[in-house]
Amino acid sequence: FHIDIDASEADKGTYDYYMLKEIDEQPVVIRHLLDKYFDDAGKILLGDQLLADIQAADRLYIVAAGTSYHAGLVGARMLEQWAGLPTEVHVASEFAYDQPLLSQKPFFIFLSQSGETADSREVLQNINRAGFKSLTLTNVSNSTLWREATYALPLMAGPEIAVASTKAYVAQVTLEAILAYALSSRLDLDLEKELSRIAIEIQAIVDDKLTFKRVAEELLVNSQSAFYIGRGVDADVALEAALKLKEISYVQAEGFAAGELKHGTLALIEDGTPVITLLTQPKTAGLVRGNIAETQARGADTFTIATKSLATDGDGYVLPDVDPLLAPLLTVVPTQLLAYYTSLGRGLDVDHPRNLAKSVTVQ
Ligand code: G6P
Repeated sequence: FHIDIDASEADKGTYDYYMLKEIDEQPVVIRHLLDKYFDDAGKILLGDQLLADIQAADRLYIVAAGTSYHAGLVGARMLEQWAGLPTEVHVASEFAYDQPLLSQKPFFIFLSQSGETADSREVLQNINRAGFKSLTLTNVSNSTLWREATYALPLMAGPEIAVASTKAYVAQVTLEAILAYALSSRLDLDLEKELSRIAIEIQAIVDDKLTFKRVAEELLVNSQSAFYIGRGVDADVALEAALKLKEISYVQAEGFAAGELKHGTLALIEDGTPVITLLTQPKTAGLVRGNIAETQARGADTFTIATKSLATDGDGYVLPDVDPLLAPLLTVVPTQLLAYYTSLGRGLDVDHPRNLAKSVTVQ
């Protein structure tokens, strides 16, 4: 007599799907990163030589694919705005075959959950041949991108099984924040403390998951299309939010900079079209309110996720205030839950979306 137990199934514990388990793990992922990269005195441990090599560069190039690319968009803003380092972000499959003109002393940062994405590896091989230095942030130690880069740092997210990436994104944004902070001379932010607080706030959002189940059922499950809008890092998260919805619920979703609405996309908004807004950036909050009104005037069904000091009556969900460039760590979580419950509500296999692979090792 024997029982066949699929080890990976057993890992799911009480969860129906890995994706929800991985969303729930995000506060722990941040704590693991804090333990790994801060010592007891609050000093950042990233390696002095790595920081010196980055500081010696005249321009940083972040190269990645999919969700990792979206994490790169946020990281670039931190590297520019906190550390004053000019940074470009590129899709690996484009950079590999249409390399932009490089600066004199470039430094490359590869973001990859798996460490095996073929397009990113193609870029790494090219830049290694040219003799440029690089850093890989990956969840898989000893993966190809880990081994072949000059430096590598682990994302500490633990195995990510669901095809749709969630906790790796949060780990990437967190580690990019630690890196940008280490390269900056910011005195007005205690990053360790702020990230610890964010871990607690993410816990509060995931504890409130049934709110997003309800919103998904009312707003998204029966929709053909949906829009995510925002400005600054909120636009970056809008791209990731739309990708998540597309890949697991097959709703045709678009994410973009709210100010671009009027340059074409507004034509798609009709009665009942879901428009979800991320509103966390004080600089542009007033403009974004105007953009929401533009969609409402065309009949959009709007749902706004705003930080406390920018929220108004009628917003769908209010998040606590955080340092503006760290807001993606909070806003992404409701969007992950919305995608999850939309997929579930449509009766789909959340963890195994059609046509997609977890790790793409072909170019
Ligand atoms: C695949 C996965 C995505 C992931 C992308 C990049 O398309 O389905 O979730 O974002 O690859 O993968 P990487 O392992 O390089 O982060």
